[in-house]
Amino acid sequence: MVIGPQKTGTTALYLFLIMHPSISSNFPSLKTFEEVQFFNSNNYHKGIDWYMEFFPVPSNVTTDFLFEKSANYFPSEDSPRRAAALLPKAKIITLLINPSDRAYSWYQHQRAHEDHAALRYSFYEVISAGHHAPPELRSLQNRCLVPGLYAVHIERWLTYYPPSQLLIIDGQQLRTDPAAVMDEVQKFLGVSPYYNYSQALTFDPQKGFWCQLLEGGRTKCLGKSKGRKYAAMDAESRAFLSRYYRDHNVELSKLLHRLGQPLPAWVREELQKVR
Ligand code: A3P
Repeated sequence: MVIGPQKTGTTALYLFLIMHPSISSNFPSLKTFEEVQFFNSNNYHKGIDWYMEFFPVPSNVTTDFLFEKSANYFPSEDSPRRAAALLPKAKIITLLINPSDRAYSWYQHQRAHEDHAALRYSFYEVISAGHHAPPELRSLQNRCLVPGLYAVHIERWLTYYPPSQLLIIDGQQLRTDPAAVMDEVQKFLGVSPYYNYSQALTFDPQKGFWCQLLEGGRTKCLGKSKGRKYAAMDAESRAFLSRYYRDHNVELSKLLHRLGQPLPAWVREELQKVR
């Protein structure tokens, strides 16, 4: 299960995973064509049968690994408990980028989707809104900032799943060196045959991202909604968010240390700002 959070490169990971000959995803929802979003939403009350409809019955499975990606599972209070009750053996993958960049990318995403509050308020107004701000602004602020409290959410997943079943990927590395990350993913899943992503992916200078290499040298990249073009974050917002996430990033570094995982470069950079 790829659990998110949103805006960390989950769609790129999804695309790369389904390129593997032994891995397939769920069927798309006929109604929404969007993520299944079972464990985190009212879909859960539709029951297991509703969920299982998204997956081929085992006798028809031609591949070894089935997965779904719902990027809202990561910060959800209910998802880890519910998922562990139904899928205790599942392997869980989360992606992390600098939470400040995640918040900004999310805000841009909301604007692109014409979220009323996101269009109305500047990014700085959203992240710095106080307790007495209008409810729509407070709600937007929560959805923007809370998923970036990474250590809190990961600890919740670790209450229900052993560390051996959780892979934490540096989303920044997925963006710059996807083949190395996909090697790590293949090892974690124990999937065979080994799939050579360094041959299957290529950097597309026009898109500015890594894409699937098709026959004849053509590329298949993610759509316009991924890798959006927008102005860089202003310095005031950057400084505000570095302060806001400071203690949480320290907690994350302790957690990664405890799990024996290397610190992503962006964690190091943020920790240096603390000193
Ligand atoms: P931006 O659009 O803000 O640049 P998600 O799929 O989880 O919503 O994440 C979207 C983000 O994935 C994009 O955010 C982009 O930076 C990042 N990303 C990483 N690798 C990518 C790739 N190969 N193609 C497109 N976007 C990629």
